[in-house]
Amino acid sequence: MCGIVGYAGSRQAGPILLDGLARLEYRGYDSAGVAVLSPGGGLCVKKTKGRLSALNELTDSGRALDGVIGVGHTRWATHGEPNDVNSHPHVGENGRIAVVHNGIIENYAEIKKFLRQKGLTFQSDTDTEVVAQLLEYYLSGGEDLISAVYKVLHRIEGAYALGILCADTPDSFVAARKDAPLIIGYGGNCNFIASDVTAIIKYTHEVSYMDDGEVAVVTKDSVEVYDALRRRVEKPRHTVDWDVSDAEKGGYEHFMFKEIMEQPEALRATIYPRVKDGRVVFEELKIGEEYIRKLKKIYIAACGSSYHVGMIGKYNLERLTRIPTETVLASELRYSDPLIDKDTLVIVISQSGETLDSMAALREAKSRGARILSIVNVVGSSIARESDDVVYTHAGPEIAVATTKAYSTQLAVLNMLGVYFAGLLGKMEPEQYDEIVAELRLLPEKAARVLADTERIKYLASRCFNHESVFYIGRNLDYALGLEGSLKLKEISYIHSEAYAAGELKHGTISLIEPGTLVVALCTYLPLFDKAMSNVVEVISRGASVVALTAEGRAGELSGTVEPENILTVPETHPVLEPSLGIIPLQLFAYYIALQRGCDIDKPRNLAKSVTVE
Ligand code: F6R
Repeated sequence: MCGIVGYAGSRQAGPILLDGLARLEYRGYDSAGVAVLSPGGGLCVKKTKGRLSALNELTDSGRALDGVIGVGHTRWATHGEPNDVNSHPHVGENGRIAVVHNGIIENYAEIKKFLRQKGLTFQSDTDTEVVAQLLEYYLSGGEDLISAVYKVLHRIEGAYALGILCADTPDSFVAARKDAPLIIGYGGNCNFIASDVTAIIKYTHEVSYMDDGEVAVVTKDSVEVYDALRRRVEKPRHTVDWDVSDAEKGGYEHFMFKEIMEQPEALRATIYPRVKDGRVVFEELKIGEEYIRKLKKIYIAACGSSYHVGMIGKYNLERLTRIPTETVLASELRYSDPLIDKDTLVIVISQSGETLDSMAALREAKSRGARILSIVNVVGSSIARESDDVVYTHAGPEIAVATTKAYSTQLAVLNMLGVYFAGLLGKMEPEQYDEIVAELRLLPEKAARVLADTERIKYLASRCFNHESVFYIGRNLDYALGLEGSLKLKEISYIHSEAYAAGELKHGTISLIEPGTLVVALCTYLPLFDKAMSNVVEVISRGASVVALTAEGRAGELSGTVEPENILTVPETHPVLEPSLGIIPLQLFAYYIALQRGCDIDKPRNLAKSVTVE
């Protein structure tokens, strides 16, 4: 979703802004623009609909823009169609102010009406333009820039990360944040703002995370931050522990494929530090045994793939801990008057840590007295900072829009939390505990074995890519796994696909199975293997073409029913961990199908990596 980058230094700003925007492309966008403070005074603004290549062409990759201070933006349209005029930066009527914005100004219509009554005219259909116009309105009333910014922030409602250039203050730009991500980067003799670290990691590893209500004044030599009451704030600085190469393709054709291949390493980095002397440990957790003993209920709230991790969590946490566990879509939780109170632990799962729906669910749960434990990948993100406890996944930066390694590491953490809680509560037999812990440690190696078999999956994909509709079926953990497999396929290949609890098929959906319908049958959850087999027989007898996934030792039992070359296998592990391996062939299956169909795999249409609007 929209990306922002800002630079104040002594080098030409244009190429740095364009480079930063290129690194934010993965967030999803439909237009882009930059504004630079010209040395002779005034603003130079260039913006255009479409990919960054168009903006590069318009600005000679930024070299045509003269100036050392500027802001850039990639827009993901919410208010007003993607076109040149609606692209950011937006400029006030007198051309003194340029604004880039991520988020939504909810009361923009009312402000627009007010400003129109004052005689101002609007160029775009966006909510953002009111910020630029309102700023100029206050400036023309005699306010200085910072006072005008505070007045605007008091007046607007909604979510925003803002980058503001003003022709009257040629040595600085201003940034402000509420409910949308924005970081400050310190580059020695230059300073930055950005929506996330990837945009500026090439220039600095030293960052601060802006908090809600804060305003920053950024020059080449200094960054001054003020809180909502305009008091000076000293921001703690953090060092980012990954490098620019982590956010590059490293010889792979797509980030998604690279990230699929990185899963053994990501699992190792996430699991190994949390297993000590055969026990699962979470040294970062502040909650102790006493709290866990008193727990009445667990809620898991998340969106998309993170929600699918939560679906597996529901089965496994309940199974292991015997604590009632409910998994809810974050976007639904906030409006469902949930039965959450101080005895409920709410687990929020989010790769980006910035998903607005998940953040809203977190706040709703907090307001009801719940304790929040989040599982987050991006260090210092908003969800992490508003949680009582954070467990970071160590997946590294995930650039492809479709999540893969973040999903796998979230799942590992959630399963480990189940084992950890169950261990504290004495709910597991020692042998069962030891077996799961041993299998957890083996996951990276077993994941690597699955990845060694990509050719087979590629071949299968070459036979399936022409289907226009696919069903994923499975029971229990395989059902939850199917939800993610199906999402992977539909989001990157644009094939319609649905996941069904296999036992539910006969209650309606089986009417859609006809000769040739592609069904991906998941039979990895071995306690229900026989039941899954009967569903396979059920769809085959209605003419379905079946691709089956099972554990290595069970392929023989399927081969009489399913064509042997349509059977994929994963190594056997403890049943509760099976989706951690099962997901890998499904990611690859989706990837190769999308490849065959010529899709834009890393940046599927209409999607954004980080969804910071409701
Ligand atoms: C799908 C995908 C999305 C995200 C969802 C939540 O591949 O990536 O469904 O899982 O938008 O995002 P986070 O985890 O950042 O909160």
